[in-house]
Amino acid sequence: MMKQLHILVLNGPNLNLLGTREPGHYGAETLAEINQKLVSLADTLGVELTTLQSNHEGELVEYIQKAGQDSVDGIVINPAAYTHTSVALRDALLATRIPFVEVHLSNIHKREEFRHHSLLVDAAIGTVAGFGPSSYTMALRGIVEQLQYKQGE
Ligand code: DQA
Repeated sequence: MMKQLHILVLNGPNLNLLGTREPGHYGAETLAEINQKLVSLADTLGVELTTLQSNHEGELVEYIQKAGQDSVDGIVINPAAYTHTSVALRDALLATRIPFVEVHLSNIHKREEFRHHSLLVDAAIGTVAGFGPSSYTMALRGIVEQLQYKQGE
């Protein structure tokens, strides 16, 4: 019997405002609604899911460190603005060695130049960007598939 996978979905700054924040870029769904869909997808996939959000870089670092201590198997992370700036988040993810997928609601490559660069992407399993809330469900399916494949190796 394989161990039940535990996935953390981590959201960075301003994503608590989804629903009202720049709907042209981010759509009309709230973070609570997105998380609810992820919880039911996790149930279907048979994995344990934790969802967290913070507007603070240091708190996000602490959540990642704690995920390392708690033996979380994979992280789906939308680092939001910290995608483009945070060496600290990159270092935390590398330190815990937890496989992760980077997620964006919007297609960051089609937006301002400063959003084209991610400090995390080369350390990620992969990235999903541009599908709105579906970016998260695609990322969850993707990371679970990868981890289950590895478990079976
Ligand atoms: C975002 C894209 C980032 O550039 C931006 O700072 C965000 C959200 C997205 O999900 O599309 O806050 O990560």
